[in-house]
Amino acid sequence: MAVKLKADGIIDFVKESEIELMEPQVKLAMQLLKEAEQKDDNMVGWHTLSINFNSNDVDEILESAERIRRQADVFVVIGVGGSYLGARAAIELLKSQFYNYEHTPQIYFVGNNMSPSYLNHVLNMCKDKELCINVISKSGGTLEPALAFRAFKSLLETKYGKAEAKKRIFVTTGAQKNSLLNLAEIEGYKTFKIPVNIGGRFSVLTPVGLLPMAVADIDIQQVILGAKEAFEDLRSDNIAENDSMLYAVYRNCLYKKSRRIELFTSFEPDFEFFLKWCQQLFAESEGKFGNGIFPVPVIYSTDLHSIGQFVQESGQALFETFIDIENAEDEYIVEKELVDYDSLNFLADKKMSFINKMAFLGTVSAHTKGGVPCIILNMPKKNEREYGYLIYFLEKACAISGYMLGVNPFDQPGVEEYKTRMFRLLKGKQEE
Ligand code: PA5
Repeated sequence: MAVKLKADGIIDFVKESEIELMEPQVKLAMQLLKEAEQKDDNMVGWHTLSINFNSNDVDEILESAERIRRQADVFVVIGVGGSYLGARAAIELLKSQFYNYEHTPQIYFVGNNMSPSYLNHVLNMCKDKELCINVISKSGGTLEPALAFRAFKSLLETKYGKAEAKKRIFVTTGAQKNSLLNLAEIEGYKTFKIPVNIGGRFSVLTPVGLLPMAVADIDIQQVILGAKEAFEDLRSDNIAENDSMLYAVYRNCLYKKSRRIELFTSFEPDFEFFLKWCQQLFAESEGKFGNGIFPVPVIYSTDLHSIGQFVQESGQALFETFIDIENAEDEYIVEKELVDYDSLNFLADKKMSFINKMAFLGTVSAHTKGGVPCIILNMPKKNEREYGYLIYFLEKACAISGYMLGVNPFDQPGVEEYKTRMFRLLKGKQEE
């Protein structure tokens, strides 16, 4: 298995017998997942995505990515939630947080907020550059991307004229009739369709995530291969053979002990958006009818200097899931100073990755001692294949865990409430 669950930091908190007691519940969750697949209106298309991909699907994405790379200095990805987090996570994790300083086309993400200042900054940065855009919205009607799309469509049409603009607009939207799909068909924009049975936060391995990844020169075939390996590895419904099941069981055991907050943690800043992707995946899937574990993305050691005190001494409601990479792909060797002014010469010639690893191990040991259970998801390397594996591992764990909590992990009815109120206000109506 590419991703392994290490349980040393949790054995003091969850007994073997408690795991055994959870067995019927987790088996039922696995059963529900299987049954969901048989239903016509199922939302588990993500589950078999990697084995259903064919070379035509990949070629179509690669062709568009190539066109974008040829035409554009700047590629703007317009989307919110599941329609942008996975792609941004992949680009930062597999390339770097500094991708835009080091590569072309630069990639900007808009349509994930409604700040005029944010929008204006990106519009200004784009106006004198060669530009392509990809608007991503499964429903085709989400306000944030819809407004940003208007702005960028208008910029493109003013800059290039309507005919050329059309060649620079790429649409990724749901296969079911919607206003964006309608416009794309009328205008003849290059369009990728998101299967009906895959929800936003489970859609990163569709063109939603794969097209921006391919534009960033990420090997999407390897990503899909990694997901496929995970699909094969995580089929068993025996907890001892399936770490995504075991992870779901641990989370539910801890939840029963009133651990209602999970810190998703990494010692690699490039994981920031990946952890945000985890946050959306688990929060929107599990947080229903008063249930659910509240996920918080955390980058250490940075955040040890802000929340470390709280976690160490007041973490009774918390547990942590660390994503640990076995082998760092980059290295820096600490230099020796002639005068040891900071008394750090004992670290001279040491690898920075070693120091970071010791910070990780020291943190796990301190937090465990402080009463915070620590789960470790260990991956050998940071590459395309591991990324695809980790995505599927977490999607499956989330689906199982959601069923164990007694909720439908694939809907998000609560998100509508703020939208209804916002639109009422926008239309000048009174609050009810
Ligand atoms: O997981 C989900 O379904 C949501 O987070 C959506 O991804 C998000 O709301 C964006 O929706 P859409 O792609 O329809 O614009």
